[in-house]
Amino acid sequence: MKALVVYGSRYGTAAEIAEEIARVIKEEGIEVDLRDAKSVKDNDASLYDLVVVGSGIKMGKWTKESLKFLQKNKKSLASKKVAIFVSCGSANEEKSRPEGQEKYLDEVAQKNLMNPPIATGLFGSVYDPEAKHGLMYNFTMRFVKKELEEKGIDSTKRYDYRDWDEIRSWARSLAYQLKNEEPTT
Ligand SMILES: Cc1cc2nc3c(=O)[nH]c(=O)nc-3n(C[C@H](O)[C@H](O)[C@H](O)COP(=O)(O)O)c2cc1C
Repeated sequence: MKALVVYGSRYGTAAEIAEEIARVIKEEGIEVDLRDAKSVKDNDASLYDLVVVGSGIKMGKWTKESLKFLQKNKKSLASKKVAIFVSCGSANEEKSRPEGQEKYLDEVAQKNLMNPPIATGLFGSVYDPEAKHGLMYNFTMRFVKKELEEKGIDSTKRYDYRDWDEIRSWARSLAYQLKNEEPTT
């Protein structure tokens, strides 16, 4: 059994999630390849039993490479177990999670996959006041900073909204679905 984890990431957040997903799947005894969507070949999905594809979200969109991977492999993915995930700001708060689930996961699956995914993962983002990723990033972070301050949260600190236990158990459940076993925890 083999699994492929493909990610699109502009600032590294979804990339780190993909790494952890790949690590957990490997820990469950499944051979795993981890690929940046920028370097994955169009027909790569055909070699795997489980394909996990994820992306960070910018202005409501997956990276173009990760979305292209889903589209180019639409036919071969139809016969495989497929799971998708995103890392986005909408995941950080209960009130915006339903919108994130619908726009970035459910709609993407409906449009780009022939069969429903075996799982979808809505994972949080990172706020890092020290990070430097260019104008667009800085512009967006000014809004995030203001929002945090309005809530009385110290905006000089870094916040990682990714729930690593949730990410690990999500990845473990994929491995168990592939092995057709029940998780023990
Ligand atoms: C310029 C910019 C635009 C963003 N747009 C959205 C958005 O439309 N919806 C959302 O939920 N999060 C948005 N975010 C938050 C990102 O999705 C979040 O930081 C994510 O973890 C980035 O993943 P990446 O580092 O893998 O690219 C945006 C962040 C930036 C910097």
